[in-house]
Amino acid sequence: MKLVEKISTAQALVSLAKKENKKIALVPTMGHLHEGHLALIELAKQYADYLVVSIFVNPLQFNNPDDLVNYPRTLQQDCEKIANGPGADLVFAPTVFEMYPHDSLDSQTFIEVPKLSYVLEGANRPGHFRGVTTVVGKLFNIFQPDIACFGEKDFQQLAIIRKMVRDLSFQIEIKSLPTIRHEDGLALSSRNVLLSNEERAQAPFLAKIMGMIANEIKEGELFIPPILDKAKELLLQQGFIPDELFVCDADTLGDLTVHSKNAVILMAAVLGKARLIDNIIVALP
Ligand code: PAJ
Repeated sequence: MKLVEKISTAQALVSLAKKENKKIALVPTMGHLHEGHLALIELAKQYADYLVVSIFVNPLQFNNPDDLVNYPRTLQQDCEKIANGPGADLVFAPTVFEMYPHDSLDSQTFIEVPKLSYVLEGANRPGHFRGVTTVVGKLFNIFQPDIACFGEKDFQQLAIIRKMVRDLSFQIEIKSLPTIRHEDGLALSSRNVLLSNEERAQAPFLAKIMGMIANEIKEGELFIPPILDKAKELLLQQGFIPDELFVCDADTLGDLTVHSKNAVILMAAVLGKARLIDNIIVALP
């Protein structure tokens, strides 16, 4: 497994693999890898002969400077986890300067999927999804993989990336993986390390609340606001600061209608220093 910082070196290695007719898969990450990332790498391995994992904390997608500073960076452990786990051919871990030579704040070119990026999670995080699509588009351009894998944990991100791929005719197949959770229901996340022991014990309540909302929707209740108000109140009582809580059509990310087949519950809540996000898809009756 090679660890590479330079775009040109990484491209040369992938070009060689392409010349050998190898199928290339890319798994983009921001590092501090956990079992969810490793499962995504396993998924990618099923479809490819040459596997690239990128590890890059992308400043362009952070709209909160503290969040960017606090984001855990553990490259050496990450490489060990990949090597001792699913394995990969190439770990691409560029510096910020390598990705944005003119400083991310002075970048001139962006990829944006505006309609899907400024609703829901994106409404409160201006520029976040533009940062995600720009860096993912750049990685797609660098490697031109056959396949790229993303987690359903970041449901809106996945929908936006799929749309970007269709709109820009990237010849890349997007594969997705359902959210990997701890036994108590908490979704695995690099941000979970920011929780104190006490907060970690509270954190699974987020998934419990989603289950509660899901049950009400499954019973056919489509008038959502009172359900969400109750959920927010319960979250507050348990020490969370609810940030976002939406129920929408899982296919359009628009409002639920009588034609909707699946709903998605999207949540973000702050607990201590961590902003936790989660979602669940509910098949409608
Ligand atoms: P990051 O948060 O590191 O996540 C990398 C990938 O792992 C994403 O596709 C995410 O959805 C997936 N993932 C995270 N937790 C998961 C879990 N518990 N179960 C399954 N998959 C999980 O998402 C990003 O990085 C960045 O926005 C990125 C796409 C790399 C662009 O910078």
